[in-house]
Amino acid sequence: MTELDTHARDAAVRALADARRILALTGAGISAESGIPTFREAQTGLWARFSPEDLATPEAFAREPERVWGWYRWRRTLIARGGVNAGHEALAALEHHRPVRIATQNVDGLHAAAGSSDIAELHGNIWRERCSACATTATMAVAPADEDAPLPVCSRCGAPTRPDIVWFGEMLPADALARAEQGLNEADCVLVVGTSNRVYPAAALVETAIAGPATVIEVNPEATPVSTAVDVALRASASHALPALVAALDAAPARR
Ligand code: APR
Repeated sequence: MTELDTHARDAAVRALADARRILALTGAGISAESGIPTFREAQTGLWARFSPEDLATPEAFAREPERVWGWYRWRRTLIARGGVNAGHEALAALEHHRPVRIATQNVDGLHAAAGSSDIAELHGNIWRERCSACATTATMAVAPADEDAPLPVCSRCGAPTRPDIVWFGEMLPADALARAEQGLNEADCVLVVGTSNRVYPAAALVETAIAGPATVIEVNPEATPVSTAVDVALRASASHALPALVAALDAAPARR
């Protein structure tokens, strides 16, 4: 594993230590090391012949709910088996130093599983189901899925339930977006972790952060469209960089 660039790491630790509030914007990359493929990578093998429109749209669910549930049950099993990794755990541990809000594009629920307490889920949560008729929601236990079980129905009205996920063409949940924006206004340090910064409106949050006064730190092994605009770019995996930053904060004398 490559060492973090010392200059960039020190700048990141200083910004985190000086911050009163931290916002972390996270994407698929933070869960990659749990063995959870990104949406695009996951379209291999059995699923290669389906496009996102076949799997993650309200029209696909209306047409072929078995296929859509098959896809999400398969992803639930991958998530349950993968579990949290050191990157998720480090963001949870960062709360020992400062208030941290997480605004995530991930639907896997792994930030909560790692113990983070303040999470805005911009694209929903794969463990929550929502009735397609009366909108009642229910949250399932994190466990590998029974792929042969009958399709789930609402306990209240009996209509089919769907994963409570933002599908292509749907609006983001207004409350999660508002909490992300509020987090952005209040934070003096913004961590951008494991996102390609290409999918809007989440990518717009990063652009707003860059345009504002907060120090923006990107953690990503690859360059993204915002890498040259952020204050600090840590070219490393989340599970390597984030624990290193938290360890440096743990070792530093407390500052308020
Ligand atoms: N640590 C940090 N970043 C990583 C790691 C890692 N170990 N591995 C990969 N990455 C980076 C990649 O370099 C890439 O920039 O994570 C990013 C993942 O990009 P995307 O797959 O585009 O994920 P994301 O930005 O979350 O996509 C947003 O698109 O598919 C839809 O709705 C889905 O929420 C998803 C949205």
